[in-house]
Amino acid sequence: MIPREVVEEIVRRSDIEQVIGSYVTLKRAGSNMSGLCPFHSERTPSFTVFKASDSFYCFGCGAGGDVITFIMKAENVDYPTALEMLAARAGITIPQDNREYRKGPSRERIREMNTAAARFFHHCLMHEPCGAQAREYIAERKLSGATVKHFYLGYAPNDFGMLRDHLRKNGFTEEEMIVGFLCGKSEKTGRAYDYFRNRVIFPIVDTSRNIVAFGGRVMDNSKPKYLNTSDTPAFKKSKNLFALNYAKDHCAEQLILCEGYMDVIALHQAGFENAVATLGTAITEEHARIIAKYTKRVIISYDSDEAGVNAANKAMRLLGAVGVEVRVLKMEGAKDPDEYIKKFGAAAFKSLIEQSRTGFEYKLEAVAQKYDVSQTDQKLRAVADIVGIISDYYSGVEREVYVMRAAERLKVSADALAGDVEKQRNKKLWELKNAQTKEAHASIRDFGDRINPDAAKNPRAAAAEETILGLLLLFPEQRDAVLAGQVSLTSDDFFTDFSRRAFDAIMRLHGEEGGFVFSLLGADFSADEMGRLQSLEVNRRSLTDNGVKVLEEAISVLRGAKEGTGEKSLGDALAEKRKRLAAQRQKNQK
Ligand code: CTP
Ligand code: MN
Repeated sequence: MIPREVVEEIVRRSDIEQVIGSYVTLKRAGSNMSGLCPFHSERTPSFTVFKASDSFYCFGCGAGGDVITFIMKAENVDYPTALEMLAARAGITIPQDNREYRKGPSRERIREMNTAAARFFHHCLMHEPCGAQAREYIAERKLSGATVKHFYLGYAPNDFGMLRDHLRKNGFTEEEMIVGFLCGKSEKTGRAYDYFRNRVIFPIVDTSRNIVAFGGRVMDNSKPKYLNTSDTPAFKKSKNLFALNYAKDHCAEQLILCEGYMDVIALHQAGFENAVATLGTAITEEHARIIAKYTKRVIISYDSDEAGVNAANKAMRLLGAVGVEVRVLKMEGAKDPDEYIKKFGAAAFKSLIEQSRTGFEYKLEAVAQKYDVSQTDQKLRAVADIVGIISDYYSGVEREVYVMRAAERLKVSADALAGDVEKQRNKKLWELKNAQTKEAHASIRDFGDRINPDAAKNPRAAAAEETILGLLLLFPEQRDAVLAGQVSLTSDDFFTDFSRRAFDAIMRLHGEEGGFVFSLLGADFSADEMGRLQSLEVNRRSLTDNGVKVLEEAISVLRGAKEGTGEKSLGDALAEKRKRLAAQRQKNQK
């Protein structure tokens, strides 16, 4: 068996877009990539690579999994061989003897090195002659001495080896510098060279006060404006927020979410210590879940340009999905919070926050702006849009309030609007139910489900199991709840052998030291089975919360379906049909 550290390292060093991209022509589709599926023949792309979750899934044929599963399928090899191929590609040697395995630099080592680097950068900014221009730049951006200290800002000298030599003197190896992303590796000489050069440095500190990464900004208009640490053993971009280490103690009521480092720093300096920003990426589901742990309400303060507006829509959706109240700042006369505060002052920004609009007001305004509602046909389209929006709200009270507000804004009757909203909502609920039943039935059609043959005996129980597994795959907090016994669920509850195996494997990994990692399931499941597990997850990503209710419901459905007789007879009938068809097929083959 290959140790989990090695598997994790191989997965981390194998960029899924690059690996799959060398087999499939991928085109960007929003935050994902898509292309023609290599595992079945198709003319329109239904094969999707999800960078955020390092996974792929084909909506056409159900192939799916992680980068290892992809190689297993594409090269028709087993799990250990796929790992070997990826390891070779990433330049990692898999140890023959487990005990021989020398782990790469540990998280602790990288953190220590980052601390040493941050000190070096800070010292250069504060005291070295080479930092003079950076000191000027900082003064120009109106950052006070206290702010510079508070954020431990720094300057990376314009030199290829100063940091490297400094770190080496402090006992760090070039390998550590490269893995920790402080240095690049020269193709010609194989030596490490400083990655951040002639930039103002922003250390990223996690909520346990470890320095986990850096951002570096140029001081002129050259490109790229920022360099950021990529994922390392100590850092995952999609899980960290800039300044959360400070904001976490000031954001129980509300949190200000910005786009840029400079916005956050300017806000903290002006007394808004509840501001954070994502790190050179759009907000992810993981970010949203982290934010939900710390605060009740988020004020989205993104740039006022088009990119900012699109990003705000995404943030609203992701934050809404984890149950956070969302408001959006309407900023006029400045492109971002940093500029706004400099121009109009902290008090003006405070009143902007107070006037920030709820997510719904923001969406309503967007609809009203999009159409000329004085024209009948356009007004109807505006109404259709807003009906779609309101019908997605779970709470009846919310829907009622928004109906009244929208009716007033679009000048239509509230009663008629309310009627349309409820109709639309029923239609959506019906479609959702229908899709779920279809999903369950599709998998047991004809000769039954190859991957989960027991499903045919009790489709209802099998569907409930799939819901449960999907939630457990998606949400660590649900795994915690099961592990801690807050949600009562054991392998005895499962009806099909496949689902029980999946449940056992997920919970076993979750209980282990390094926690649950999807890629490790590959050791126990075939590539096709991995595809099924991936589909369970993909199909539930659209859930509008972390699914506590859904999980409880599915468990009670599972128990009822296992015991109840009514559903069994349907299952028996389907099993019968399957047998008959199988017999028929055998006859035909003779
Ligand atoms: N960003 C990045 N790489 C770039 C440009 C931007 O990683 N080439 C990220 C950084 O995290 C940056 C954020 O996107 O903070 C927002 O970008 P921008 O608004 O351009 O930067 P500001 O932080 O506002 O910086 P400044 O005001 O100094 O221009
Ligand atoms: Mn800016």
